[in-house]
Amino acid sequence: MWNTCRALVLALVAASNFPRVHVLDCFQSADTDCYSHANAASSSRPSSSAVKSWWNVSFSNLTRDLDRFIVSCEKLLESLPVDDVNGNFVRTVKNCVFSKSVPTPLRGPLRLAAVSKDVIEGILELDVAVTQSESFLLYASGGRLLPGSVPLAHRYGGHQFGYWAGQLGDGRAHLLGQYLNRKGEVWELQIKGSGKTPYSRSGDGRAVIRSSVREFLCSEAMHFLGIPTSRAASLIVSEEPVFRDQFYDGNVKTERGAVVLRLAKSWFRIGSLEILSESGEIDHLRTLLNFIIDKHFTFISADDPEKYLVFYSTVVNGTAHLIAQWTSVGFAHGVFNTDNFSLLSITIDYGPFGFLESYDPNFVPNTSDDEGRYRMGAQAEAGLFNLEKLLLALRPLFTQKQQKQAKMILNEYTNVYQMRVLQIFKTKLGLLGEDEEDNDLIAFLLKMMEDTQSDFTMTFRQLSEVSANQLGSMNFTQMWALDDLSSHKLFSDWLNMYLLRLSRQQSDRDLDRLHRMQSVNPRYVLRNWMAESAIRKAEMNDFSGVELLLHILSSPFVTQHTAEEAGYAARPPVWANRLKVSCSS
Ligand SMILES: *[C@@H]1O[C@H](CO)[C@@H](O)[C@H](O)[C@H]1NC(C)=O
Ligand SMILES: *[C@@H]1O[C@H](CO)[C@@H](O)[C@H](O)[C@H]1NC(C)=O
Ligand SMILES: *[C@@H]1O[C@H](CO)[C@@H](O)[C@H](O)[C@H]1NC(C)=O
Ligand SMILES: *[C@@H]1O[C@H](CO)[C@@H](O)[C@H](O)[C@H]1NC(C)=O
Ligand SMILES: *[C@@H]1O[C@H](CO)[C@@H](O)[C@H](O)[C@H]1NC(C)=O
Ligand SMILES: *[C@@H]1O[C@H](CO)[C@@H](O)[C@H](O)[C@H]1NC(C)=O
Repeated sequence: MWNTCRALVLALVAASNFPRVHVLDCFQSADTDCYSHANAASSSRPSSSAVKSWWNVSFSNLTRDLDRFIVSCEKLLESLPVDDVNGNFVRTVKNCVFSKSVPTPLRGPLRLAAVSKDVIEGILELDVAVTQSESFLLYASGGRLLPGSVPLAHRYGGHQFGYWAGQLGDGRAHLLGQYLNRKGEVWELQIKGSGKTPYSRSGDGRAVIRSSVREFLCSEAMHFLGIPTSRAASLIVSEEPVFRDQFYDGNVKTERGAVVLRLAKSWFRIGSLEILSESGEIDHLRTLLNFIIDKHFTFISADDPEKYLVFYSTVVNGTAHLIAQWTSVGFAHGVFNTDNFSLLSITIDYGPFGFLESYDPNFVPNTSDDEGRYRMGAQAEAGLFNLEKLLLALRPLFTQKQQKQAKMILNEYTNVYQMRVLQIFKTKLGLLGEDEEDNDLIAFLLKMMEDTQSDFTMTFRQLSEVSANQLGSMNFTQMWALDDLSSHKLFSDWLNMYLLRLSRQQSDRDLDRLHRMQSVNPRYVLRNWMAESAIRKAEMNDFSGVELLLHILSSPFVTQHTAEEAGYAARPPVWANRLKVSCSS
């Protein structure tokens, strides 16, 4: 039983790369705290009844006329400094947060490849029928400006792969404006792939179909997994040739340009503050930070002398929570630089990301990231690095004392992350209450998954679909991931430990446990090979693969016939192993 193999397991676990989870202070709080998190996680997902009643109320009043869809840049332009040079030529920009920059229309004919009804209707309050119009194609790709729009490119800097990279900025994205919807939410609309800006460096300002399909699908998929993220409204493909060396191997291919219309409450990044701090533009730094706090951290009072400290601690906490959520679904971001990391702790800038297949903490989605800086198991550390850089950027605004306090806040980051990871994995295993061995139970499982190369998503999912009795008798008919896992020589020890732990949850019915587990362990995630099939079709103007994936990934916790038929919960096809992620975008 457990005690007899404990020493061995701990040795195994210690040897593994998975960031160790420790039993932490959170367990001094009552049980209910620990599951209120599970509830919080699911409440961030739209419940179907909430969605229905909301549709119901507003369906009759969606905007059908795009010329009446008004956005505004006033708040941004009034409050924040704007570049006094005009024109989209590449240059070093000083003393501003934005440059005015007009998108370059794509060569047509344009085609609507995909649209997220959830975003178009639920956030933008547009009747989805308008997306079929010619004018939508123009508005959503930069060919025509929405009423009220003053398109902007944002100036930011950042640390890339560990080093200060100087001025970066929106090199191929344009902020079209803010939309205030009837729920009182302000959303910033951005198009990506819409041409050169002052920040394009050597780039051509375009994005290709494959990277745009990936961003479109993954941002929507993450939302439906309950993970804070930017959203995608539409994907438009053009006939404009774009030249890319996809694997940086000298093989230049002609691809086609595409534009994603994407939304976030704010696109400000750690790098937004860094560039101002690094350039000594401290007044602008203060102005931008005050603006961000005023609009997005509304619980912080403008005259609180500690407001920057409270802001910092909110970002530290938010970052820890976000990365814990990534870990819990096996999501590796891939280019987690300070310029690609949101101050609002949402997932942004989908590039060479990947979802884990076989469990491997050394999983690196970007095949050119030879050092594995952004490998799966190192994301929490990368987050810590980014937060150190944020602290550095804020230094001019802190007193000596506040700097010390900020460092202490940062020191808590790892604990917050580990505590959250432990809570989420407990939820994934259906565990209630507290037990000092939970930490080991989880680490033991992950270690076995690593040794047996078990599929991350399906191992957790199948554990959610098998009753305690069936588990006890190791009846894994058709459960391919559990079958793989059970080949581990210590599997039955782990199983006994797990079943014993479950049996102590006396008031918990097995069906309730399975139900809880199924609502947090997705059956479908956007695996690279799934995206790749949709991309290959899309490149031939067949967008059915994108549509199917969007549909399936909008309900990732529900078993769906079409998804099962497509093999999305089955063992990945052999060709999936040979797939390289397209890196240039
Ligand atoms: C909303 O839906 C409910 C039940 O489906 C229905 O009874 C009600 O009349 C609807 N309300 C509106 C405004 O359509
Ligand atoms: C519908 O929208 C218009 C303008 O967006 C607004 O003036 C009107 O009050 C809305 N009607 C309802 C029933 O919500
Ligand atoms: C930390 O962030 C999480 C997720 O956003 C939130 O639920 C929690 O209240 C935050 N905690 C603190 C102390 O701010
Ligand atoms: C991250 O930011 C850099 C600098 O702006 C940009 O070149 C890169 O494309 C971004 N990554 C993604 C995935 O958008
Ligand atoms: C992948 O990693 C390499 C090496 O660090 C880097 O140069 C490249 O920009 C990364 N790719 C993307 C799309 O970020
Ligand atoms: C195994 O479980 C399946 C249900 O998934 C059941 O139909 C079958 O009878 C079980 N087999 C044994 C040997 O218990």
